[in-house]
Amino acid sequence: MTAQIIDGKAFAATLREKIAIHVAHLKRQYGITPGLAVVLVGEDPASQVYVRSKGKQTLEAGMNSYEHKLPADTTEAELLALIGQLNADPKVHGILVQLPLPGHLDEALVINAIDSTKDVDGFHISNAGLLATGQKGMVPCTPLGCLILLREFCGSLSGLNAVVIGRSNIVGKPMAQLLLRDSCTVTVVHSRTRNLQEIVRGADVVVAAVGRPLFVQGEWIKPGATVIDVGINRIEQSDGTTRLVGDVDFDSAKEVAGAITPVPGGVGPMTIACLLANTLTACCRMHSLPEPDGLTA
Ligand code: GUN
Repeated sequence: MTAQIIDGKAFAATLREKIAIHVAHLKRQYGITPGLAVVLVGEDPASQVYVRSKGKQTLEAGMNSYEHKLPADTTEAELLALIGQLNADPKVHGILVQLPLPGHLDEALVINAIDSTKDVDGFHISNAGLLATGQKGMVPCTPLGCLILLREFCGSLSGLNAVVIGRSNIVGKPMAQLLLRDSCTVTVVHSRTRNLQEIVRGADVVVAAVGRPLFVQGEWIKPGATVIDVGINRIEQSDGTTRLVGDVDFDSAKEVAGAITPVPGGVGPMTIACLLANTLTACCRMHSLPEPDGLTA
């Protein structure tokens, strides 16, 4: 058996088109243009690439993009002052502070200074609490993207055994909460878990978010399971070139799984599409307008 390959790139493109249509409707009907502010502190090359890509896709969806690039020695007070301005700006519906921040800045303090209704990353403590208690808030983009793919490819998730590998605040924990909300039986496994392989073998749904290249082997996968690979790892090959791989050994896993996301082209494109979805959702809520279907959990 060879798994169905889940084309996240194509699915994200469809999602972005749906968002663009709704944005055009908001402009035409109400004269409102959703706006996303992205704040980048310092010059981390990977972060610069992400921020550029976010800005480009925001504009392509017909939204306004506001980029704030600050020097690496920006003080906490200066960054908090900018967040205060963006919180108060009615043209800004979503605020994203690119992580990681330089070491002298307290990430939790900065994230929690964002107005939680504009926190399109879903990292604010209020949004984490709303998710954990099953209430409406902002849902982190990567887990939201995984959930949308899972609903698409599994249909109802109710009663399925789901295993989340990794317990980060950004992916593992919110992913577990979302799967629980969709009535899965959820197990979170991590670096200290005993019998990890055995637990993965019982899973109908596997979400791998450990940050360890090619960690999950095909022989750990239950035949027919749906496998979502969140990992993005750059590994060096014997010829000196580098290759992007996930947390799952795709070649062996695709022989066993029912459906699987590739890396690249799986979850990655869904994350930015969900950032745009969250910005649109935040804009609709701010103006008390109906939210488009299928864009949030
Ligand atoms: N750095 C890497 N991924 C992310 C993300 O999803 N959000 C933010 N704010 N920073 C990141």
